[in-house]
Amino acid sequence: MNVDLSVDIGGLRLANPIIAASGCFGYGLEYAEAVDLSALGAIAVKGLFLDEREGHPPARIVETPSGMLNAIGLQGIGVHRFVAEKLPPLQAAGAVVIVNICGSSIEEYAEIARVLDDAAGVGAIELNISCPNIKKGGMVFGCSQQGTHDVVAAVRQVTRLPLIPKLTPNVTDVASFAIAARDAGADAVSLVNTFLAMAVDVETRRPRLSNVVGGLSGPAIRPIAVRMVHECYQAVEIPIIGMGGIMSAEDALEFMIVGASAVQVGTANFVDPFIWTTLLTDLTTYLHRHQIEQVSEIVGTLALNAKGSQ
Ligand SMILES: Cc1cc2nc3c(=O)[nH]c(=O)nc-3n(C[C@H](O)[C@H](O)[C@H](O)COP(=O)(O)O)c2cc1C
Repeated sequence: MNVDLSVDIGGLRLANPIIAASGCFGYGLEYAEAVDLSALGAIAVKGLFLDEREGHPPARIVETPSGMLNAIGLQGIGVHRFVAEKLPPLQAAGAVVIVNICGSSIEEYAEIARVLDDAAGVGAIELNISCPNIKKGGMVFGCSQQGTHDVVAAVRQVTRLPLIPKLTPNVTDVASFAIAARDAGADAVSLVNTFLAMAVDVETRRPRLSNVVGGLSGPAIRPIAVRMVHECYQAVEIPIIGMGGIMSAEDALEFMIVGASAVQVGTANFVDPFIWTTLLTDLTTYLHRHQIEQVSEIVGTLALNAKGSQ
């Protein structure tokens, strides 16, 4: 039996459902000597503002039980340099590129999207309205349904590229945000971004991150992320990209079974930069074992009893 791993995410065709998560795989090119970029379903590049940004001073990363905290502060080269310097080699390497964008205002989001719409080699735009580490923009939009709707609607007006708002888990009812995004014209949603969190050095009594608070990622957040994808799948019919603590094909399958059409892998890449081959091999093995020819057949197949619970 031949197994077909290809998936469709709001008009973007991917050879397989495993995507490198934004902020955890640079601009992709940093890994080009170690990883075949064309073998990944796609690469979600580090979040871009209109202009270059320095990000926060160190310490910007702290390891925590089964996870990590980060407060990078969206350091980046800005969209114009990205288009000029990074997109052409990414295209040449055969990578499918999802550009993660951030803004301090709705106008900034729209302006970046306009630039990307004119550029060759952009597969989709992932709208980062969920970064917990910046003071202006980001999560401010993602924590308000109206804000989510307004940003998505404004970007929708300026681009025909597949549009994927990335939702924050720092809300009570994540599904209502998926609905707001869908109603504003999103082609898909991705979730989750990191959870707002904090760690303290008890000897110095200082926060471990220079920014005091940061975003928690890694296996510690996975069960919460799976629950949130499950809730969104019941609320919207547009494709969902699931993420949060995926370290193995089994973890990726959990997300797909509750409704994710594809997944992103972030923190695991810091532990094992060669994880991609293992993920794809193990996913294929699982599909063979379960006699599933097309990977999408697994999406949303959670087995529930009549009451919807165990
Ligand atoms: C160091 C670091 C930087 C990140 N930068 C971004 C970013 O620029 N844009 C974004 O949308 N998400 C960013 N994220 C969030 C990840 O893309 C992902 O949503 C989150 O880490 C959960 O997945 P994981 O547990 O597999 O890492 C970052 C995460 C980490 C750990």
